Order: sequence, then C-alpha cells, then structure tokens
Amino acid sequence: MSTAVRIEKTGATGLVILNAPPVNALGQGLRAGLIQAVEALNADPQVEVISIYGEGRALSAGADIREFGQAPQAPNLPVVLNAIEASAKPVVITLHGVALGGGLELCLACHARVALPSTRLGLPEVTLGLLPGAGGTQRLPRLVPLEIALEAVTTGRQFSAEEALAAGLVDRLADGTPHEVALQAAADVLSSALETRRTSDLKADVDQALIAGAVARLSDRRPVLSAPIKAAKAISHAAEPIESGLKAERSLFLELMESPDRQGLVHAFGAERAVRKIPETGTPRNIASAGVIGGGTMGVGIATALLTAGLSVTLVETTLERAESACLVVAKNLDGAVKRGKLTQALRDENLQKLTPAVDYDALADCDLVIEAVFEDMAVKTEIFSKLDRICKAGAILGTNTSYLDVNQIAAATTRPEDVIGLHFFSPAHVMRLLEVVVADKTGSDVVATAFALAGRMKKVAVRSGVCDGFIGNRILAHYRKSADYMLLDGADFDQIDKALEDFGFAMGPFAVADLAGLDIAWANRKRKAATRPPEERYSAIADRLCEAGSFGRKTGSGFYTYGSGKARSVNPDAEAAVQAERQAEGIEPRSFSDEEIVSRYMAAMISEAVRVLEEGIAQRPVDIDAVFLFGYGFPRHLGGPLNYADRIGAANLVSRIESYAKEDPYFWQVPALLRNMAETGQRFAGLNKENTDGS
Ligand code: 3HC
Repeated sequence: MSTAVRIEKTGATGLVILNAPPVNALGQGLRAGLIQAVEALNADPQVEVISIYGEGRALSAGADIREFGQAPQAPNLPVVLNAIEASAKPVVITLHGVALGGGLELCLACHARVALPSTRLGLPEVTLGLLPGAGGTQRLPRLVPLEIALEAVTTGRQFSAEEALAAGLVDRLADGTPHEVALQAAADVLSSALETRRTSDLKADVDQALIAGAVARLSDRRPVLSAPIKAAKAISHAAEPIESGLKAERSLFLELMESPDRQGLVHAFGAERAVRKIPETGTPRNIASAGVIGGGTMGVGIATALLTAGLSVTLVETTLERAESACLVVAKNLDGAVKRGKLTQALRDENLQKLTPAVDYDALADCDLVIEAVFEDMAVKTEIFSKLDRICKAGAILGTNTSYLDVNQIAAATTRPEDVIGLHFFSPAHVMRLLEVVVADKTGSDVVATAFALAGRMKKVAVRSGVCDGFIGNRILAHYRKSADYMLLDGADFDQIDKALEDFGFAMGPFAVADLAGLDIAWANRKRKAATRPPEERYSAIADRLCEAGSFGRKTGSGFYTYGSGKARSVNPDAEAAVQAERQAEGIEPRSFSDEEIVSRYMAAMISEAVRVLEEGIAQRPVDIDAVFLFGYGFPRHLGGPLNYADRIGAANLVSRIESYAKEDPYFWQVPALLRNMAETGQRFAGLNKENTDGS
C-alpha cells in the first residue's frame, strides 16, 4: 500500500486517510493508494461503509501539478474515480480546508459528501489553462443547476461550503475534526440518516442554448483563451451517457494539456511560489509596528496594506492636518475593502484603531519597521534616513519605497546600512500584489528574510531585486516603452499600438498606461536623465509637447486620449497633431506597421532588457522577472511572463529579429550576449530556473 494513503478500521467503517503533505495533491502515490484502499475495503467482509478524509490542512488541492508534462503514470485519475464511484460499498467523503480541481472531482465520484463549514470548493483548472479532466464537467451538472456548473468550470471561482450546500454540491455541513466528521458520516450512512447515491446515475439538466451562449461570450473576449471555451463545451456532453461524456471531457482535457497557454498559466502559478525561494537564510525579525513617512498615494496605500496585515502604523506627514487627512484616505481604502468583501466591518474598525497620525519623527522611535514614501529626491531621502538613523531603535528595519534611486546611497546615509532595504510597492499599494524587495550591498540576510515574511502577511508577491536604476520592473519598462515611442515616430498610430498590444493580452497599451500613470511623472524622469542621455539614443519629444500644453493624461482629462466621465477613451486630436509635428521636425517619412510587427518589436525590446537584467544579476532567475511582470505590470498571464514567452519564440528567432531591427537603429537594438549564447547552444530560459515551474 502506498504511504500516501492509510486505512483505519472502526467497527463496520473503513476509513481511508489521505496523507500527502502539504495539500494532498493527487500524485501517483495517492492515486494508487486510493484505488488499492477502496478495493481492499470492498473485499473486507467486516466493512460496510468506506469513509474518506484528508490529513493536514486540506482534503486535496487536486491533480499534482508537478506531474504535468511528464509521462503519465498509471493509474490515471479518471480510472481511480470511476473505480470509487463503482464501489459496491457506499463511499462517503469529508471535505475540509480546500477541495479543488481533481480533489473536488474525487468528492463528486463519492456517494455522499460532508463538508466542514470553512471548506472552500472549486474547479480552478481553467486558471491553469485546463478543464476538469476527471469527471468534473460531467458529474457537477448532475448535482447542481447548469448555470452554477457553467460558472464553476469557466471561471474557476471558489465556493464557500454554504454555497456548495445550497447548490446541492455537498449533502451536509458538520463541525469537528475531519476524523470525527468522517466517522460520524459513516455512522449516518449505516443508519440511513445520510443518503448515498452514484452521481452518474443522476440526470443533468443540460440546456444546450445556454451553453452555446456562454461559448459565444467567451469567444468574444480578448485575448481568446481556449480553456474556458472547451470547459463549457465539455459540459454540453453531460447530456450523454456518462461513459461517452467522460470520454469527450478527457479528450478536450488532453488537448489543453498540450497547449502553450496551459504551460504559461502553470508557469504563472509556479512563479508566484518560486519567487519565495531566496538565497538569504536569516531568521525574520519580529515586526508588529511600522511607521510610514509620507501621506501621498503611495504612503497611504502602504499604510493600508500594513494595517490589513495586522500591524500598528504611525503615519508621518509634514503637518498634523496632512497626516490626519492621509489617515482619512486610509479609512476610505479600508471601507473599499469592506465593500469588496475583503474585510469585515469589525476588522476594519480594529485596524483603524491601530493607525496614528504624527508629525514628529520621534513618534517612530519604537517602530520595528519604517518605510519612507516621499517624492523621488535623493537629497530629501538621505536626510530622512540620517534622521531615522538617529531616532529609530536598534534592530528597526529602515525601508525605502523609491522606484529607481540608488538604495546603496540611501543606506550610506545611516550608520546601519545592514538594516536598510528597498521595499518598492506598486500603486495602489494596498491592491497591487507585487513588492520588489531591493537588496543593497550591505542589507542583512535577516532583513531580506523579514521583508519576504512581511510580504506574505500582506498577501503580496515579493520578488528579490538587486540595485540598478529602476530595479527589475521599471528598468525593463523604460526600455520597451521607448520601442513604442519609436514605432509612433516612424508611422504607427498610438491607438493602433495600444489596440495591438491589448489584443495580444495586455490589460492596457503603453500610451493608455502613460495617461493613467500621469505624463508629468515620466516627463520629470526624462528631464532628470536628459544630461546623461547618450547622443546616439533616439528621442521622442511627443509626450513632452503634450506636457508643455498641460495635458498630463487622465488627471487633466487629456493626454494621448481625451476622457469623459466613464472609462471610454477617444483619440486626442492635439496628440495626433503633436505626432505629425514631431515626425516632420525629425524628417521622418511615416510607414505602416502591422499589428504583428508592433507586438514583435515591443516584446523583443522587453525581452532584450530582461536578459540584460538577468546577465547583470539584478534578477537572480528568469522566473523572478516573469513574476514582476505578471504581478506588477499586467503582463498576459497565459503567456507566463516575458522570459517564459521568450522560450515560445526561441532565442535564435529573437536574435534574428533584433539583428534585423538593428539595421535601422543599432544603438537601441543590441543582442545581449546571454541571448546570443542561448541561441547558439539551443538553451531555454526555463533551463536557467532552478526548478521546473511549468511542467514543460
Ligand atoms: N499540485 C502540486 N503542488 C501543489 C498543488 C498541486 N495541485 N497545490 C499546491 N501545491 C504546492 C505549492 O506549490 C506549494 O509548494 P511549495 O511550498 O513548494 O512552494 C505548497 O503546495 C503550498 O501551496 P501554497 O503555497 O499555494 O499554499 P496556500 O495555502 O497559499 O494555497 C492552495 C493552497 C489553495 C491549495 C493553492 O496552492 C492552490 O490553489 N493550489 C492549486 C489548486 C489547483 O489549481 N488545483 C487544480 C489542479 S489541476 C487538476 O486538478 C486537474 C484535474 O481536473 C484532472
């Protein structure tokens, strides 16, 4: 018998206990163990009922993602689940923690289901580019109304135990440990207090028109993702006898397993977890209280994120009035979280009690952590850090939220550079998941470990970055952003560029993003760098012209686009005029660009700079760069991040693209040495990650 499954017998009950930490993923050992256990208990004359439950924090998180892309190992999950459903003796299952994907499909194949009230249930396969491939699309619509089944398989949404009970997905809720509930459930089956039946004996009420409507809606979305469409189509087979429905489901599942989107989405799932593995092994410091300096958008967002992670926060501004009004914005942010169902009213009130406005830096003396979030000026920042050095207690961590300034220089303003670290949040800081943890030359290993632990408490994805102008994300952004400016100069319209990239999968194109971020911010940055701009570098002054005319983007109602009251944007004729004027001034004969060329140049620029960031050791692994873009820059999740996408194109193709663009602009388009080397040796970025994150 596999070690992942254990049998315990109590009277006429045969308990089958799953034990594959951390989340009882249904790997080969667990699958083989399950089938053996059910067979053994069926053959045992003492046993009248079989009761399954899971050890540890969850019943099961579904199929073992680490097996994706490997040669299939028998028995496969559908075979195991069909055998359980066919069991002559009744099989009841207890759900706790989560029952997701194949874990929920296991439940559907059992003859009765009892859930602990805190259980979360769902079929999230679609978020991994898959559909439920072990009966989920056939058995779920036999138990719950079609609308609910369709929603579950096409969105991957998780359901609470109460919702599941109301829908008919579970038979009852029960309190207790999984072991106690499993024993009671078995007793109830024996006494007929809990009814059992085979799901496949039930009839699904399949309205094909409803499914066709869902397929049509999903096909209209951009980008078009095949997993939700195929998941909806698989449900249409629930009208057939179970054997043929299961066969149709399996064949759609296997098609998706081979798709590049599945690889990208699984990589994105793995990336979120892989970035936690950092070289620093220090023990995290205890952080209970924090100070935030600066009550602007960033400071307020950071204070909100820290409060919701359970810390007490002192918010420092230059006047008490400003500090208090910043605290009011924090309260508004928390109200928003209550409205979105992310926070209870009671917790919101409790959090706000822990927020204190202050003017004097002395109020930060006892804080375990201080995060500076004032405007980007080195002189101001070094003055703040030397002040913090004098005031803060020994062992306090001193963080800066700078988005591009030199953290080594900031650390040098203190006598304790080992306590100084960059904590680069993304706006709005209480919503965006990415946190770049910028490790300076002297940052202590325990300080880095503390930053990662804190990110976990804030439910953020922390990525380790070295020091350079812009760190991982903004440095790469600054480069590929220029490729969009050059295409605009050379003849592509900005709305065509935005639309091409939005169709490709970005939430917003670069010019729409620039308008949202505020054209004045990038303008100030360009002015800062003007003196050091290399003479060979092309420069587009289009955005400068807009700024000079007072068009800063959304905040002023116009930028590249004009904005009304809603979300809609329309092309700003003044921006078009600025484009024409700049082309004329530069003597450029505009040419047309296909959408494909736009995407190709933009991605080649992004990947080139990403490779340089990797070569220089600013990012440690390709997956770190992928995570930065997935969680901070709206990179299309199904493409898995810039370097995962680079593997789709292939290093050799990228080199030849860059070389062909370099004929027009050899300064901007340079092939990074690492990429050239990879092209020559046939290496992939996936091979540079320390672990396989995507099952490819
Ligand atoms: N397979 C393999 N490993 C898994 C796993 C899975 N299905 N689910 C989670 N893990 C691993 C994680 O990678 C992580 O490993 P690490 O410690 O080495 O980094 C560890 O378990 C703990 O996971 P988290 O860090 O994510 O812990 P959380 O408590 O934050 O979340 C969870 C737990 C809600 C279960 C979350 O991990 C999750 O959503 N897992 C994926 C669920 C899923 O998508 N299941 C569907 C799989 S596809 C399928 O079932 C196909 C079927 O239809 C045939």
